[in-house]
Amino acid sequence: MLPLRAIFPGKRVALRAPRVSDAPRIVEIRTRSREFLRAWVPVPGPDEFDVDLARARILRDRRDIRADRHYRFCMTLGEDGPVIGRVALTQVFRGIFQNASLGYWVDVEHHGQGFTTEGVTLALDVAFREIGLHRVQAAISPHNAASLAVARKCGLRDEGRAARYLQIDGAWQDHLLLAVTAEDWPAAPR
Ligand SMILES: CC(C)(COP(=O)(O)OP(=O)(O)OC[C@H]1O[C@@H](n2cnc3c(N)ncnc32)[C@H](O)[C@@H]1OP(=O)(O)O)[C@@H](O)C(=O)NCCC(=O)NCCS
Repeated sequence: MLPLRAIFPGKRVALRAPRVSDAPRIVEIRTRSREFLRAWVPVPGPDEFDVDLARARILRDRRDIRADRHYRFCMTLGEDGPVIGRVALTQVFRGIFQNASLGYWVDVEHHGQGFTTEGVTLALDVAFREIGLHRVQAAISPHNAASLAVARKCGLRDEGRAARYLQIDGAWQDHLLLAVTAEDWPAAPR
């Protein structure tokens, strides 16, 4: 089981479980990034913009990590700096699949600086080395050039196009499916 206090540091950013005390900061960056994110992420719920609801959501996120269901990490600047985005491994499926779905977003004030590429690399390291997954997949709009660039830079391969795959901004939209398996991750245990 991944300890909730674990911190996974990279060169400039780190990943860790969300803390209840992160709620005001997460609401702040999610609120100012609302328009920036709107075209690419699911229609947000009220818990993304209300600090009390965000606290309850964080408690659910922590329960999900303990239960090995979803790992919705905070991406921070340095090991104890401010939260600048989220990187998540969700829908963990064990058994013969050992798969999770990758998702991410960054604060509009911090995009374009390579932070998400670093955060996603850390998440893949967690997936393959810490929680023993075999495969991580991402579903990305063909129009989302920045997200496709991040996924491909992190080693995800294009696997095809899924018609009307996710409901984004109110419409069922085609997505490209990309994936990486543990065999491609040099540091993963065999
Ligand atoms: C996708 C997202 C997380 C990228 O975050 P980021 O921190 O800016 O990512 P990075 O800086 O690590 O990398 C971005 C890459 O995209 C490239 N990029 C950005 N806009 C681009 C465009 N219009 N065309 C082609 N490449 C583009 C950048 O050049 C960079 O690649 P490079 O380092 O090779 O130059 C951020 O844009 C975001 O939050 N978008 C909205 C939410 C979202 O789309 N989430 C993913 C849903 S699948």
